[in-house]
Amino acid sequence: MMKKLNPVALALAALASASPFAASAQSTSNELVVYCSVQEEWCREMATTFTRTTGIKVAMTRKSSGETYAQLKAEAANPKADVWWGGTGDPHLQAAEEGLTETYKSPRLSELQDWALRQAEQSKYRTVGIYAGALGYSYNEPMLKRKGIAAPKCWADLTKPEYKGEVQVADPNSSGTSYTMLATMVQLMGEEKGFAYMKALHRNINQYTKSGGAPARAAATGESMVGITFIHDAVAQAVGGAPVVSVAPCEGTGYEIGSMSIVKGAKNMANAKRWYDFALEASTQALAVNAKSYQVPSNKKAPVPKEAPKLSDVKLINYDFAKYGSSAERTRLLAKWDAEVKVLPK
Ligand code: F6P
Repeated sequence: MMKKLNPVALALAALASASPFAASAQSTSNELVVYCSVQEEWCREMATTFTRTTGIKVAMTRKSSGETYAQLKAEAANPKADVWWGGTGDPHLQAAEEGLTETYKSPRLSELQDWALRQAEQSKYRTVGIYAGALGYSYNEPMLKRKGIAAPKCWADLTKPEYKGEVQVADPNSSGTSYTMLATMVQLMGEEKGFAYMKALHRNINQYTKSGGAPARAAATGESMVGITFIHDAVAQAVGGAPVVSVAPCEGTGYEIGSMSIVKGAKNMANAKRWYDFALEASTQALAVNAKSYQVPSNKKAPVPKEAPKLSDVKLINYDFAKYGSSAERTRLLAKWDAEVKVLPK
């Protein structure tokens, strides 16, 4: 004879099997704390869509990649965030190595490009690639013409005397973009020449900003003639109507694998995993263009924005993410830049 089951227990069992996370101890939480390291507009677009889709409230803080890494480290004993979404891959890899982030294998991993998966494998699944973009710079064309300077094409051009006070880039401690530049120069030229280049460039820098994307905005408004950023950030300004030209430097350049990680000890772990899976979906990655973000998405089925700089047209170096995302190397290079470059007179 069949045993009679309590209908409430049956309903609960059905609910639990419908949602992969319903059985988790944290299933009652309706909140998620996200540290976001892309530009503000895209952070907001993601948070709003996630809340609309899941009903989960998102508390979002926007900070640059290096700053967010430092914050996670400072909060390690009492984590405040659940997910770190976006920002360059190197500090995500460093956070993974230092055990600041949690292992998670999303069921969507099989939908990703090889470069995004490699990021996951390299970190033992503590981070994953969500987009890619190449480093370069942009210049304000009317300003350049007014000063009678020939159009720059290479990294070497930016150290010429006519660019004195005309170049802006972020500080590599706070900004993942700028750390990508430092690591790129070391890989492209060798450490000695790479640092010599950074010192020569220093003479022409008008300001080291906190955020990596700010120099693209400065070039767009004419506050600075040249801004060193990821090329997609310069494209966003051009699409918005600014008179800027973007350059993929002739010597070759580095690139980022924008990444995402779950914070170790996250208070809303089930919701963090939901965000993670949501962020890897093709339809979610397609939202980027609504927020004028033109990176190459990591899901193979996500459309590549027509405005996105074509990575195949850029001379990309074979950026060694394992080395330059390692805790020892990133810490060493930043300390060396602080001691040997930042302190120099201009
Ligand atoms: O603005 C977007 C973006 O360029 C991302 O592609 C990149 O991961 C992030 O900004 C880096 O920002 P920051 O240099 O401020 O860490």
